[in-house]
Amino acid sequence: MARCQILTEIGRRQFLKRSGAATAGAVAGAVVAAAPARGAFAPARVTYPSSRLANLADLRVNEPFDISYPDADSPGVLLKLGQPVEGGAGPDGDVVGFSILCPHKGYPLAYDPSDRVFNCAGHYSRSGSTTAATSTPRAWTS
Ligand code: FES
Repeated sequence: MARCQILTEIGRRQFLKRSGAATAGAVAGAVVAAAPARGAFAPARVTYPSSRLANLADLRVNEPFDISYPDADSPGVLLKLGQPVEGGAGPDGDVVGFSILCPHKGYPLAYDPSDRVFNCAGHYSRSGSTTAATSTPRAWTS
């Protein structure tokens, strides 16, 4: 019986030590979690191949030019926006590329030149394209 009492006492001490450590960890976690969250896109660690997708002469302002990049199963479009944008390609710095697969479920996005947005048939979302740096879907830029 005394042995049981000793084991119980050891078990209780270990429980208290561990629960104290867990509490300290939870408090530390709460302190860390109290810091404001800062969202940022992590850069993709992928090397995309350089390839010729179109001739500049084939591009018209605000008309999507169908492409596949970086492989045949990845549909996209090139858009000549008609105004320079950060990271834009071409002599006018106004050519950007977009994947036309929605990032959620892979629905094909359709570009509507009348209001310069990509429409998703999956959930009727609309994503702007007028500036490459702030657009969603994310633009590929040079
Ligand atoms: S389901 Fe992905 S953009 Fe609509």
